[in-house]
Amino acid sequence: MKNLLIKADNIVGLEYLLYEKNMKDSIDLVYIDPPYATGGNFTITNGRATTISNSKNGDIAYTDTLKGADFIEFLRERLLLLRELLSAQGAIYLHIDYKIGHYVKVMMDEVFGVDNFRNDITRIKCNPKNFDRVGYGNIKDMILFYTKSSHPIWNEPREKYLEKDFEKLFPKTDKQGRRYATVPIHAPGETENGKSNQPFKGILPPAGRHWRTDVETLEEWDKEGLIEWSSTGNPRKIIYADEREGKRVQDIWEYKDPQYPTYPTEKNAEMLDLIIKTSSNKDSIVLDCFCGSGTTLKAAQINNRQWIGIDQSEYAIKATIGKLETIERNLFETKAEYHLVEIEKNKISHNFQKQRCTQKNVEQSG
Ligand SMILES: C[S@@+](CC[C@H](N)C(=O)[O-])C[C@H]1O[C@@H](n2cnc3c(N)ncnc32)[C@H](O)[C@@H]1O
Repeated sequence: MKNLLIKADNIVGLEYLLYEKNMKDSIDLVYIDPPYATGGNFTITNGRATTISNSKNGDIAYTDTLKGADFIEFLRERLLLLRELLSAQGAIYLHIDYKIGHYVKVMMDEVFGVDNFRNDITRIKCNPKNFDRVGYGNIKDMILFYTKSSHPIWNEPREKYLEKDFEKLFPKTDKQGRRYATVPIHAPGETENGKSNQPFKGILPPAGRHWRTDVETLEEWDKEGLIEWSSTGNPRKIIYADEREGKRVQDIWEYKDPQYPTYPTEKNAEMLDLIIKTSSNKDSIVLDCFCGSGTTLKAAQINNRQWIGIDQSEYAIKATIGKLETIERNLFETKAEYHLVEIEKNKISHNFQKQRCTQKNVEQSG
Protein backbone atom coordinates (compact mmCIF):
# COMPACT_ATOMS: atom_id res chain seq x y z
CA MET A 1 0.00 0.00 0.00
CA LYS A 2 1.14 3.55 -0.75
CA ASN A 3 0.74 6.29 1.83
CA LEU A 4 -2.44 8.32 1.31
CA LEU A 5 -3.22 11.97 1.91
CA ILE A 6 -6.94 12.53 1.50
CA LYS A 7 -8.62 15.91 1.21
CA ALA A 8 -12.19 15.29 2.32
CA ASP A 9 -14.64 15.49 5.15
CA ASN A 10 -13.34 12.58 7.19
CA ILE A 11 -16.72 10.86 7.34
CA VAL A 12 -16.45 10.25 3.60
CA GLY A 13 -12.69 9.69 3.82
CA LEU A 14 -13.23 6.90 6.36
CA GLU A 15 -16.08 5.40 4.32
CA TYR A 16 -13.76 5.44 1.31
CA LEU A 17 -11.11 3.47 3.23
CA LEU A 18 -13.65 1.04 4.60
CA TYR A 19 -15.80 0.37 1.56
CA GLU A 20 -13.74 1.33 -1.49
CA LYS A 21 -10.33 0.28 -0.23
CA ASN A 22 -11.65 -2.65 1.84
CA MET A 23 -9.48 -1.70 4.80
CA LYS A 24 -11.62 -3.18 7.56
CA ASP A 25 -9.42 -4.45 10.44
CA SER A 26 -6.20 -3.18 8.85
CA ILE A 27 -5.15 -0.04 10.74
CA ASP A 28 -2.88 -0.63 13.75
CA LEU A 29 -2.82 2.89 15.15
CA VAL A 30 -5.11 5.91 15.08
CA TYR A 31 -4.14 9.25 16.62
CA ILE A 32 -6.71 12.04 16.30
CA ASP A 33 -6.73 15.60 17.51
CA PRO A 34 -10.16 16.87 16.48
CA PRO A 35 -11.51 20.35 17.14
CA TYR A 36 -12.37 20.73 20.85
CA ALA A 37 -15.83 22.34 20.59
CA THR A 38 -14.40 25.78 21.39
CA GLY A 39 -16.97 27.60 19.25
CA GLY A 40 -14.30 29.57 17.38
CA ASN A 41 -12.32 29.79 14.15
CA PHE A 42 -8.62 29.01 13.87
CA THR A 43 -6.85 31.30 11.44
CA ILE A 44 -3.58 31.82 9.61
CA THR A 45 -2.29 35.38 9.05
CA ASN A 46 0.55 36.00 6.59
CA GLY A 47 1.65 32.39 6.85
CA ARG A 48 1.63 32.41 10.66
CA ALA A 49 -0.84 30.33 12.62
CA THR A 50 -2.77 31.80 15.52
CA THR A 51 -2.84 29.75 18.69
CA ILE A 52 -6.22 31.03 19.87
CA SER A 53 -9.61 30.05 18.51
CA ASN A 54 -11.34 33.43 18.37
CA SER A 55 -8.95 35.44 16.20
CA LYS A 56 -10.76 38.00 14.03
CA ASN A 57 -7.86 38.26 11.55
CA GLY A 58 -6.47 36.06 8.84
CA ASP A 59 -7.78 33.20 6.73
CA ILE A 60 -9.77 30.46 8.42
CA ALA A 61 -7.73 27.25 8.51
CA TYR A 62 -10.57 25.40 10.23
CA THR A 63 -13.74 26.13 12.14
CA ASP A 64 -14.68 24.65 15.48
CA THR A 65 -18.31 25.62 15.87
CA LEU A 66 -20.08 22.36 16.75
CA LYS A 67 -20.87 22.27 20.45
CA GLY A 68 -22.29 20.02 23.17
CA ALA A 69 -24.30 16.99 22.06
CA ASP A 70 -23.82 17.84 18.35
CA PHE A 71 -20.06 17.71 18.81
CA ILE A 72 -20.21 14.38 20.66
CA GLU A 73 -22.42 12.91 17.92
CA PHE A 74 -20.05 14.23 15.22
CA LEU A 75 -17.16 12.41 16.92
CA ARG A 76 -19.17 9.25 17.65
CA GLU A 77 -20.06 8.76 13.98
CA ARG A 78 -16.36 8.93 13.08
CA LEU A 79 -15.24 6.71 15.94
CA LEU A 80 -17.65 3.97 14.84
CA LEU A 81 -15.94 3.91 11.44
CA LEU A 82 -12.50 4.05 13.03
CA ARG A 83 -13.37 1.05 15.19
CA GLU A 84 -14.17 -0.91 12.04
CA LEU A 85 -10.88 0.10 10.45
CA LEU A 86 -8.76 -0.81 13.50
CA SER A 87 -7.03 -4.18 13.47
CA ALA A 88 -7.43 -6.63 16.37
CA GLN A 89 -4.04 -5.44 17.70
CA GLY A 90 -4.94 -1.78 17.07
CA ALA A 91 -5.04 1.24 19.37
CA ILE A 92 -6.59 4.70 19.28
CA TYR A 93 -5.34 7.87 21.01
CA LEU A 94 -7.80 10.78 21.05
CA HIS A 95 -6.48 14.21 22.04
CA ILE A 96 -9.04 16.52 23.65
CA ASP A 97 -9.32 19.29 26.23
CA TYR A 98 -10.55 19.26 29.83
CA LYS A 99 -13.84 21.01 29.05
CA ILE A 100 -15.38 18.42 26.71
CA GLY A 101 -12.99 15.50 27.34
CA HIS A 102 -15.01 13.81 30.09
CA TYR A 103 -18.11 13.58 27.90
CA VAL A 104 -15.95 12.15 25.09
CA LYS A 105 -14.60 9.54 27.55
CA VAL A 106 -18.12 8.30 28.37
CA MET A 107 -18.98 8.06 24.68
CA MET A 108 -15.68 6.26 23.88
CA ASP A 109 -16.37 3.73 26.65
CA GLU A 110 -19.54 2.87 24.77
CA VAL A 111 -17.86 2.66 21.35
CA PHE A 112 -14.68 0.75 22.33
CA GLY A 113 -15.78 -0.93 25.58
CA VAL A 114 -14.77 0.04 29.12
CA ASP A 115 -12.44 -2.97 29.27
CA ASN A 116 -10.43 -1.56 26.37
CA PHE A 117 -9.84 1.79 28.07
CA ARG A 118 -6.12 2.01 28.93
CA ASN A 119 -5.26 5.55 30.04
CA ASP A 120 -6.43 9.09 30.42
CA ILE A 121 -3.05 10.71 29.80
CA THR A 122 -2.52 14.18 31.23
CA ARG A 123 -0.51 16.21 28.75
CA ILE A 124 1.26 19.34 30.03
CA LYS A 125 0.82 21.55 27.00
CA CYS A 126 2.33 24.92 27.91
CA ASN A 127 4.08 26.99 30.55
CA PRO A 128 1.99 28.33 33.46
CA LYS A 129 -0.21 31.26 32.45
CA ASN A 130 -1.16 34.34 34.42
CA PHE A 131 -4.49 35.11 32.76
CA ASP A 132 -6.95 36.89 35.01
CA ARG A 133 -9.75 34.40 35.60
CA VAL A 134 -11.60 32.76 38.42
CA GLY A 135 -10.09 29.31 38.55
CA TYR A 136 -6.64 27.79 38.45
CA GLY A 137 -4.40 28.16 35.44
CA ASN A 138 -4.88 25.48 32.80
CA ILE A 139 -1.69 23.92 31.49
CA LYS A 140 -2.94 20.47 30.57
CA ASP A 141 -5.16 18.66 28.14
CA MET A 142 -5.92 14.95 27.89
CA ILE A 143 -5.31 11.99 25.61
CA LEU A 144 -7.75 9.11 25.85
CA PHE A 145 -6.08 5.81 24.96
CA TYR A 146 -8.13 2.72 24.02
CA THR A 147 -7.24 -0.55 22.33
CA LYS A 148 -9.43 -2.64 20.07
CA SER A 149 -8.83 -5.82 22.11
CA SER A 150 -6.90 -7.27 25.03
CA HIS A 151 -3.82 -8.03 22.88
CA PRO A 152 -2.69 -4.73 21.34
CA ILE A 153 0.75 -3.87 19.97
CA TRP A 154 2.75 -2.63 22.97
CA ASN A 155 6.43 -1.80 22.64
CA GLU A 156 7.12 -0.81 26.25
CA PRO A 157 8.60 2.68 26.20
CA ARG A 158 11.34 3.64 28.65
CA GLU A 159 12.31 7.08 29.84
CA LYS A 160 15.94 7.93 30.59
CA TYR A 161 16.80 8.36 34.28
CA LEU A 162 17.77 11.88 35.30
CA GLU A 163 20.67 12.42 37.72
CA LYS A 164 18.18 13.15 40.53
CA ASP A 165 16.36 9.85 39.75
CA PHE A 166 19.62 7.93 40.20
CA GLU A 167 20.19 9.53 43.60
CA LYS A 168 16.65 8.84 44.73
CA LEU A 169 16.07 5.38 43.25
CA PHE A 170 19.59 3.93 43.58
CA PRO A 171 20.86 5.45 46.84
CA LYS A 172 23.67 2.92 47.50
CA THR A 173 27.13 2.59 45.91
CA ASP A 174 29.26 -0.58 45.88
CA LYS A 175 33.08 -0.85 46.15
CA GLN A 176 33.44 -0.35 42.39
CA GLY A 177 31.39 2.86 42.58
CA ARG A 178 28.31 1.32 40.92
CA ARG A 179 24.98 2.75 42.06
CA TYR A 180 22.39 0.23 43.22
CA ALA A 181 19.17 -0.30 45.14
CA THR A 182 17.88 -3.41 46.90
CA VAL A 183 14.40 -4.93 46.72
CA PRO A 184 12.76 -7.69 48.79
CA ILE A 185 13.14 -11.22 47.41
CA HIS A 186 9.65 -12.15 48.61
CA ALA A 187 6.19 -11.08 47.43
CA PRO A 188 2.67 -11.23 48.88
CA GLY A 189 0.75 -14.53 48.75
CA GLU A 190 1.48 -18.02 49.96
CA THR A 191 2.23 -20.97 47.69
CA GLU A 192 1.75 -24.55 48.81
CA ASN A 193 4.25 -27.23 47.84
CA GLY A 194 5.77 -24.85 45.27
CA LYS A 195 9.44 -24.12 44.56
CA SER A 196 9.05 -20.64 45.96
CA ASN A 197 8.15 -21.61 49.52
CA GLN A 198 11.19 -23.84 50.23
CA PRO A 199 13.87 -22.74 52.73
CA PHE A 200 16.63 -20.55 51.29
CA LYS A 201 19.84 -20.74 53.40
CA GLY A 202 17.62 -22.15 56.12
CA ILE A 203 15.17 -19.22 56.00
CA LEU A 204 11.50 -19.52 55.02
CA PRO A 205 9.62 -16.62 53.37
CA PRO A 206 7.75 -14.45 55.95
CA ALA A 207 4.18 -15.49 56.83
CA GLY A 208 1.71 -14.81 54.01
CA ARG A 209 4.50 -14.38 51.41
CA HIS A 210 6.50 -16.47 48.94
CA TRP A 211 9.96 -16.11 47.33
CA ARG A 212 9.85 -14.06 44.11
CA THR A 213 11.56 -16.94 42.32
CA ASP A 214 12.56 -20.57 42.95
CA VAL A 215 15.23 -21.36 45.51
CA GLU A 216 17.80 -22.52 42.87
CA THR A 217 17.68 -19.07 41.29
CA LEU A 218 18.08 -17.42 44.72
CA GLU A 219 21.18 -19.62 45.26
CA GLU A 220 22.52 -18.50 41.84
CA TRP A 221 21.95 -14.84 42.69
CA ASP A 222 23.72 -15.30 46.01
CA LYS A 223 26.74 -16.96 44.31
CA GLU A 224 26.94 -14.07 41.82
CA GLY A 225 26.92 -11.52 44.67
CA LEU A 226 23.46 -10.24 43.74
CA ILE A 227 22.00 -10.74 47.22
CA GLU A 228 22.77 -8.22 49.96
CA TRP A 229 22.49 -9.58 53.54
CA SER A 230 21.56 -7.07 56.24
CA SER A 231 23.24 -7.16 59.67
CA THR A 232 20.12 -8.99 60.95
CA GLY A 233 20.39 -11.65 58.20
CA ASN A 234 17.67 -10.30 55.92
CA PRO A 235 18.40 -11.03 52.22
CA ARG A 236 17.53 -8.48 49.50
CA LYS A 237 18.17 -8.51 45.72
CA ILE A 238 20.65 -5.98 44.33
CA ILE A 239 19.49 -3.94 41.30
CA TYR A 240 22.25 -1.98 39.51
CA ALA A 241 21.32 1.40 38.00
CA ASP A 242 23.56 0.88 34.94
CA GLU A 243 21.69 -2.31 34.01
CA ARG A 244 18.29 -0.63 33.89
CA GLU A 245 17.06 0.50 30.49
CA GLY A 246 15.24 3.46 31.97
CA LYS A 247 12.11 4.10 33.98
CA ARG A 248 8.56 3.23 33.05
CA VAL A 249 6.68 5.98 31.27
CA GLN A 250 3.80 7.22 33.43
CA ASP A 251 0.51 8.86 32.44
CA ILE A 252 1.58 12.49 32.89
CA TRP A 253 3.47 13.71 29.83
CA GLU A 254 5.19 17.02 29.33
CA TYR A 255 5.26 17.75 25.60
CA LYS A 256 4.73 21.44 24.96
CA ASP A 257 3.45 22.45 21.54
CA PRO A 258 5.57 24.53 19.13
CA GLN A 259 5.77 28.20 20.13
CA TYR A 260 5.61 29.31 16.48
CA PRO A 261 3.30 26.75 14.87
CA THR A 262 2.99 26.33 11.09
CA TYR A 263 -0.67 25.48 11.61
CA PRO A 264 -3.15 26.36 14.38
CA THR A 265 -3.00 23.92 17.33
CA GLU A 266 -0.07 22.02 15.79
CA LYS A 267 1.01 19.27 18.19
CA ASN A 268 4.41 18.31 19.60
CA ALA A 269 6.33 16.02 17.22
CA GLU A 270 8.16 14.10 19.98
CA MET A 271 4.86 13.16 21.59
CA LEU A 272 3.71 11.61 18.31
CA ASP A 273 7.04 9.83 18.00
CA LEU A 274 6.46 8.18 21.41
CA ILE A 275 2.90 7.12 20.54
CA ILE A 276 3.95 5.66 17.18
CA LYS A 277 6.94 3.75 18.56
CA THR A 278 4.87 2.34 21.43
CA SER A 279 1.64 1.36 19.68
CA SER A 280 2.69 0.37 16.16
CA ASN A 281 5.26 -1.80 14.40
CA LYS A 282 7.34 -1.33 11.27
CA ASP A 283 4.70 -2.85 8.97
CA SER A 284 1.78 -1.01 10.62
CA ILE A 285 -0.55 1.50 9.00
CA VAL A 286 -1.01 4.68 11.07
CA LEU A 287 -4.11 6.85 10.48
CA ASP A 288 -4.88 10.44 11.46
CA CYS A 289 -8.22 11.63 10.07
CA PHE A 290 -7.92 15.15 11.57
CA CYS A 291 -4.34 15.44 10.38
CA GLY A 292 -3.96 19.27 10.37
CA SER A 293 -0.33 20.01 9.54
CA GLY A 294 0.56 16.30 9.36
CA THR A 295 2.50 15.95 12.64
CA THR A 296 1.37 12.31 12.96
CA LEU A 297 2.14 11.53 9.33
CA LYS A 298 5.68 12.89 9.52
CA ALA A 299 6.37 10.92 12.71
CA ALA A 300 4.97 7.78 11.04
CA GLN A 301 7.14 8.35 7.96
CA ILE A 302 10.30 8.88 10.01
CA ASN A 303 9.57 5.67 11.93
CA ASN A 304 9.07 3.73 8.66
CA ARG A 305 5.37 3.15 9.16
CA GLN A 306 2.78 3.41 6.39
CA TRP A 307 0.35 6.25 6.94
CA ILE A 308 -2.99 7.74 5.92
CA GLY A 309 -3.92 11.36 6.62
CA ILE A 310 -7.32 12.99 6.10
CA ASP A 311 -8.27 16.65 6.46
CA GLN A 312 -10.91 18.77 4.78
CA SER A 313 -8.99 22.05 5.03
CA GLU A 314 -6.96 23.23 2.07
CA TYR A 315 -4.57 24.93 4.52
CA ALA A 316 -4.08 21.67 6.38
CA ILE A 317 -3.26 19.76 3.19
CA LYS A 318 -0.76 22.48 2.19
CA ALA A 319 0.81 22.47 5.67
CA THR A 320 1.05 18.67 5.60
CA ILE A 321 2.75 18.62 2.20
CA GLY A 322 5.17 21.29 3.45
CA LYS A 323 5.92 19.34 6.63
CA LEU A 324 6.52 16.08 4.76
CA GLU A 325 9.00 17.94 2.53
CA THR A 326 11.07 18.86 5.59
CA ILE A 327 11.98 15.20 6.16
CA GLU A 328 15.71 15.03 5.63
CA ARG A 329 16.90 12.26 3.43
CA ASN A 330 19.49 10.26 5.27
CA LEU A 331 20.29 6.62 5.85
CA PHE A 332 17.40 6.09 8.21
CA GLU A 333 14.71 8.48 7.03
CA THR A 334 13.19 8.11 3.59
CA LYS A 335 11.40 10.76 1.57
CA ALA A 336 7.63 10.51 1.86
CA GLU A 337 5.91 9.04 -1.17
CA TYR A 338 2.16 9.21 -1.22
CA HIS A 339 -1.00 9.56 -3.30
CA LEU A 340 -3.01 12.71 -2.86
CA VAL A 341 -6.73 11.98 -3.21
CA GLU A 342 -9.58 14.48 -3.16
CA ILE A 343 -13.06 13.16 -2.50
CA GLU A 344 -16.32 14.98 -3.09
CA LYS A 345 -18.78 14.44 -0.29
CA ASN A 346 -21.72 13.39 -2.51
CA LYS A 347 -19.84 10.81 -4.52
CA ILE A 348 -18.78 8.68 -1.59
CA SER A 349 -21.95 9.13 0.35
CA HIS A 350 -23.65 7.60 -2.69
CA ASN A 351 -21.29 4.61 -2.57
CA PHE A 352 -21.77 4.36 1.14
CA GLN A 353 -25.52 4.25 0.62
CA LYS A 354 -24.98 1.45 -1.89
CA GLN A 355 -22.84 -0.41 0.64
CA ARG A 356 -25.43 0.03 3.35
CA CYS A 357 -28.16 -1.32 1.03
CA THR A 358 -26.03 -4.34 0.10
CA GLN A 359 -25.40 -5.07 3.75
CA LYS A 360 -29.09 -4.76 4.49
CA ASN A 361 -29.95 -7.16 1.66
CA VAL A 362 -27.47 -9.70 2.98
CA GLU A 363 -28.94 -9.42 6.47
CA GLN A 364 -32.48 -9.84 5.13
CA SER A 365 -31.69 -12.80 2.92
CA GLY A 366 -29.64 -14.44 5.73
C1 LIG B 1 -6.72 20.43 16.02
S1 LIG B 1 -6.43 20.41 14.31
C2 LIG B 1 -5.25 19.09 14.14
C3 LIG B 1 -3.83 19.58 14.34
C4 LIG B 1 -2.81 18.48 14.12
N1 LIG B 1 -2.83 17.51 15.18
C5 LIG B 1 -1.41 19.05 14.00
O1 LIG B 1 -0.49 18.65 14.76
O2 LIG B 1 -1.20 19.88 13.12
C6 LIG B 1 -7.94 19.69 13.76
C7 LIG B 1 -8.03 19.46 12.26
O3 LIG B 1 -9.23 18.73 11.99
C8 LIG B 1 -9.71 19.14 10.73
N2 LIG B 1 -11.13 18.77 10.64
C9 LIG B 1 -12.15 19.21 11.42
N3 LIG B 1 -13.30 18.63 11.05
C10 LIG B 1 -13.01 17.79 10.03
C11 LIG B 1 -13.77 16.91 9.22
N4 LIG B 1 -15.08 16.73 9.40
N5 LIG B 1 -13.14 16.23 8.24
C12 LIG B 1 -11.80 16.38 8.02
N6 LIG B 1 -11.02 17.19 8.76
C13 LIG B 1 -11.61 17.89 9.76
C14 LIG B 1 -9.48 20.63 10.70
O4 LIG B 1 -9.44 21.11 9.36
C15 LIG B 1 -8.12 20.73 11.42
O5 LIG B 1 -7.07 20.75 10.50
